[in-house]
Amino acid sequence: MNKYLAVDPWCIIEDKFDPANQRASESIFSLGNGRMGQRANFEEAYTGNSLPGFYIAGIYYPDKTRVGWWKNGYPDYFAKVLNAPNWIGINVIAGKEILDLNVWKTLKFSRVLNMKEGTLSRAFTSENKEQRKVEVECLRFLSMNNTDLCVIRYTVKPVNFSGTMDIVPYLDGEIRNEDANYDEVFWDIRATDSAEGTAYIEAATKKTGFVAGFAMKYQVLVSGKPAIFKAKAKNTAKYAENSFSLSLKKGEPLTIIKYVAVVNSLYCKPESIRTEAQARADMAFTAGFEKLYNDHVYVWDNIWEHSDIKIEGDVEAQQGIRFNIFHLNQTYRGDDPRLNIGPKGFTGEKYGGSTYWDSEAFCIPFFLSTAPASVTRNLLVYRYKHLEKAIENGQKLGFTGGAALYPMVTMNGEECHNEWEITFEEIHRNGAIAYAIYNYINYTGDKHYLSEYGLEVLIGISRLWSQRTTWSQARKKYVILGVTGPNEYENNVNNNWFTNTIASWCLKYTIESIEYVKSGFPQRFKEISEKWSFDEKAETVKWQDIIDNMHFPADEQLGIFVQQDGYLEKELRTVNDLQPEERPINQHWSWDRILRSCFIKQADVLQGLFIFHDRYDLDTIRRNFDFYEPRTVHESSLSSCVHSIVASRICKVEMAYELYLSTSRLDIDDYNNEVREGLHITSMAGTWMAIVLGFGGLSVKDEILAFNPRIPRNWKSYSFRIFFRDSIIEVLVSKEKVIFNNHSDTVINLKVYDNDYILKKKLEIKI
Ligand code: BGC
Repeated sequence: MNKYLAVDPWCIIEDKFDPANQRASESIFSLGNGRMGQRANFEEAYTGNSLPGFYIAGIYYPDKTRVGWWKNGYPDYFAKVLNAPNWIGINVIAGKEILDLNVWKTLKFSRVLNMKEGTLSRAFTSENKEQRKVEVECLRFLSMNNTDLCVIRYTVKPVNFSGTMDIVPYLDGEIRNEDANYDEVFWDIRATDSAEGTAYIEAATKKTGFVAGFAMKYQVLVSGKPAIFKAKAKNTAKYAENSFSLSLKKGEPLTIIKYVAVVNSLYCKPESIRTEAQARADMAFTAGFEKLYNDHVYVWDNIWEHSDIKIEGDVEAQQGIRFNIFHLNQTYRGDDPRLNIGPKGFTGEKYGGSTYWDSEAFCIPFFLSTAPASVTRNLLVYRYKHLEKAIENGQKLGFTGGAALYPMVTMNGEECHNEWEITFEEIHRNGAIAYAIYNYINYTGDKHYLSEYGLEVLIGISRLWSQRTTWSQARKKYVILGVTGPNEYENNVNNNWFTNTIASWCLKYTIESIEYVKSGFPQRFKEISEKWSFDEKAETVKWQDIIDNMHFPADEQLGIFVQQDGYLEKELRTVNDLQPEERPINQHWSWDRILRSCFIKQADVLQGLFIFHDRYDLDTIRRNFDFYEPRTVHESSLSSCVHSIVASRICKVEMAYELYLSTSRLDIDDYNNEVREGLHITSMAGTWMAIVLGFGGLSVKDEILAFNPRIPRNWKSYSFRIFFRDSIIEVLVSKEKVIFNNHSDTVINLKVYDNDYILKKKLEIKI
């Protein structure tokens, strides 16, 4: 834990410069706009410890896999999001010394992430060896309105001297990924160019051939008025700059506004990228800072109007939830089905920027409620487009007949993770992908999605389950052998309760969906059957048999579901038996010891009870929670949020609150001492769920929106808005009452604490 940031409802504030926190702050203060993201690296030179990071959505490199012992079936590569050319660079030279906070003395420093407006700013005073002091104020944003535009306003002022200041705005293609497996450079720089007032570089990824063009323009002001100066242009093989000198009087501010347009081959023909990027940089230059800034803030205003959660009485919790909502919106905008959400978003290299089951299991509920349905639909279509690859992936592991094994980690549909226990065994991800289809349809009512796309995916996945299940003669039941459940601290186990549960649910949902499409869209059903050689009768008979005879490990005496066969034979200690210096156990224990222990990395049985809560009575859920929560070390960011929701549902509100706090401030307070690697973007959606699904108790039952609101002791009130079908509903929960406001003309049926209501415009219910 490292609590060095000020608590504030709308901002993240660092008020002194400590180089030891630099990497962590670079992650926390990251900016993004759905198409690209930038860590909070400094504009001016910085020779201290830093992880430079600028990432472009959808652009990756297939880095050659590195494993100790190769096993058949391993993928050849691990896709990586790339650190792309540096667009932020502005060198500042006062006298002879280049401004560098690692070398200069920092006298005052503040860094602010303004989440309301989506900007990062810094203000500092620094002094060089010649005791020249400069004051810097800078602000940057990645436009949410023109998503290929990045803007920086950088003001430098000589505090105690008059003299020459050299300024060098540049673009630099000499960049690397810290996590490159073989120290390779991933980009070829195809062109560099510069002329007075402009610079351009064009980079292409090796192997994958993505192209990105960066065009720079800038304006210079002295004391707010356009400066008169002559700039020198220079470019080398990977670098392009302008440089100019201005003679400044003591106290006279010099401002450079740098506009960089980043255009890439996902959206533009490679041969037109240069013209397009330059045109957009010109356009930005003409529009000017104020206009671009206002347009950007306007988009954020709209986002906040729909997705803000207001918490009264607890600023830490308020800051925490806004931080999470802010980063989720910076990471994914939902306007391109080729893009997805990496666990670290655009804030670091870890997890390669690829797609995990996190998107379906955690992010979808957030986007369903806070954004138009098309946003979630695009996340689903992303998987639909990967169906053929999922089938190929299954074939590589020996599955046949169109069985779709979706990858654990992917960029383009191909598996690119290579730990056998995860790649081959963590197959519950397929259940999450199927469940997301159900979740989307249940929430939005867009049943059409099934015939259009969903059913094909469901059939592919059900075929996988059907082949991945084994008939156990001994048990006279179907079993699923050799899996890793959500709890990755157990590998190669038999009958993980969660996996068996989601598998049999998926088969059942597929059969129901077949019935629906067959009767409503017979022609389409025929097409699907032909396309996938689907033998409805034979295949569904087998699926039904599996549904009817699946083994679900349970212990009658304890009244709980058993995480997997044999779990109860372990030494059943609790987390309280661990010494503080042993935690996190993944950093202190051998893997062997972890595997043999009863300690659970993240929600597993409870993940199932969270998803399928409607099927179980509260006592069952409570018994399982009381058994598993004390044994869960929450060493995945995806864990506490699920436990928090389950705790809310069984009325352990204060425990839910503690779990909520640790998830919502996981990165701000660096709970696991790893935020320097990037933020936990996908678990941020879990934090949102902890409030809306947990405390608010939101669910949709039989097409009806239901709530079960509770409020933690030290909150005065909290409120949130959700999109539901054609309406926007605002929910305000205080100690005494719940108020629902309907911001649409559609009348809505509601269930609150299991009673039925009709919501016209406003409804107040006493707690
Ligand atoms: C978790 C996985 C998750 C991955 C990426 C791992 O630590 O165990 O469930 O998919 O992180 O967030």
